[in-house]
Amino acid sequence: MEYSLLTMCYLIASITFILGLKMLSNPASARKGNQIAAIGMAIAIFGTIFLYEDESIKLGNYLWIFGGIAIGTIIGAFAAKKVKMTDMPQMVSLFNGMGGACAALISIVEYNHDHFYFEVLSNTSFMIVLAGLIIGSVSFTGSMIAWAKLDGRLQDYSFKGQHIVNILLLFAAIGLSAFVLLAHPEHSSLYFYFILVLSAIYGILFVMPIGGADMPVVISLLNSFTGVAAACGGFLYDNKAMMTGGILVGAAGTLLTILMCKAMNRSLTNVLIGSFGGNAASGGVAGGAQGQYKEISLSDSAVLMTYSSKVVIVPGYGLAVAQAQHACHELEKLLTEKGVQVTYAIHPVAGRMPGHMNVLLAEADVSYEKLKEMEEINDEFPSVDAVLVLGANDVVNPAAKTDPTSPIYGMPILDVELAKHVIVNKRSMKPGYAGIENDLFFRPKTSMLFGDSKKVIQDLIAEIKNL
Ligand code: TAP
Repeated sequence: MEYSLLTMCYLIASITFILGLKMLSNPASARKGNQIAAIGMAIAIFGTIFLYEDESIKLGNYLWIFGGIAIGTIIGAFAAKKVKMTDMPQMVSLFNGMGGACAALISIVEYNHDHFYFEVLSNTSFMIVLAGLIIGSVSFTGSMIAWAKLDGRLQDYSFKGQHIVNILLLFAAIGLSAFVLLAHPEHSSLYFYFILVLSAIYGILFVMPIGGADMPVVISLLNSFTGVAAACGGFLYDNKAMMTGGILVGAAGTLLTILMCKAMNRSLTNVLIGSFGGNAASGGVAGGAQGQYKEISLSDSAVLMTYSSKVVIVPGYGLAVAQAQHACHELEKLLTEKGVQVTYAIHPVAGRMPGHMNVLLAEADVSYEKLKEMEEINDEFPSVDAVLVLGANDVVNPAAKTDPTSPIYGMPILDVELAKHVIVNKRSMKPGYAGIENDLFFRPKTSMLFGDSKKVIQDLIAEIKNL
């Protein structure tokens, strides 16, 4: 086996990807892990550009290559610097979509490059080109729709019989690919671009109807699609770094999808055909909450929490919007000093991206031991004196357990209503991401504490200090 400098570059890159991924699993090492993997990617890219040894396929076009790298780097760096923490999920969707688009473009370029030499393009290569085309374009259009939905630019949309149309589109794209691959028909370009259009439409229709509470599963599934599409490019070029990178992203995305499905109590089959049970596309305010809610004052909240022995804080998307993580940590420390046992209840899809609350609280140096996963904390709620819900809504909505018509029915939730008292902090009675009312706010044990989370927590801290 021949060991070239380029092979060494790819080996180093692959090792950094694996190390980086490992380090990403812990908020304390995540930043470093990201940097290490980025260095590995730079080594792989520059190695490919300058160290390719086969003279017949030496890379040229340096102006195009470096022009593209410069434009991409400037846009990427600028966007990453400017993006608000609450807009990160949209950014992740955009980046993911770009990865899918690149994979689809590789397939288009290689097809156009090779189909003139159809005899020399092996069936395996052609199959990889078609797989990259389908998966990459589904991932691109699906991620764009996910981006628009997360950004509030698009509403869920579905029509009658959409599941059947989705399945037909997917089968048509795969069936046509098999036909082109096996029969080598005349005008194969026409079929090729038709497959591209079918896949792109499938990507749109597959994500369009998916209701609020189910988006996390789709986002991680799209991530894994992009990884697999990139791996197709790696196989095509026999580029080990691209293959390793793609396979790692594909595998990590698949594992995350499975974990998300478990957390959301959904089956993967339903995700694949874009058909969740009773999605929010039907719109409206399901759950039909009603009646009176009661408010609690800051001083009463302060007294209640200070004289509790066990308090659980439930962070949600609103905490991220308010950027109240530091204030929240301060409140937790203050209560702990007063002898209260304080923990955080982390729902797997609280916020807008996987691990959102863990990242947010880690930013404020909250100790990991204080964070309790849903399964663990749910058993503890009956012994909790007070729960403070900070900007969370869907993840504490009892309709998920009691109302079969609710778009979030079946999703496991934090059982906060089992605690003795529940204080809910948000700015109004408006619904959360899934667009549905929350019966918890009207329950006898619940009191509403309205206001921006950061301001409310700061005022609570001042009240507690004055007690
Ligand atoms: P949500 O259900 O979205 O509720 C957030 C609540 O925060 C809102 O009701 C809002 O009410 C309140 N809020 C907003 N800004 C606030 C502020 N400055 N101060 C105080 N409150 C504020 O959040 P959640 O409970 O975390 O649930 C997450 C939802 O997003 C789920 O439906 C989940 O499926 C979905 N989702 C999650 C992900 C991932 S991977 N985590 C991805 C996509 C979608 P007011 O406007 O009245 O203040």
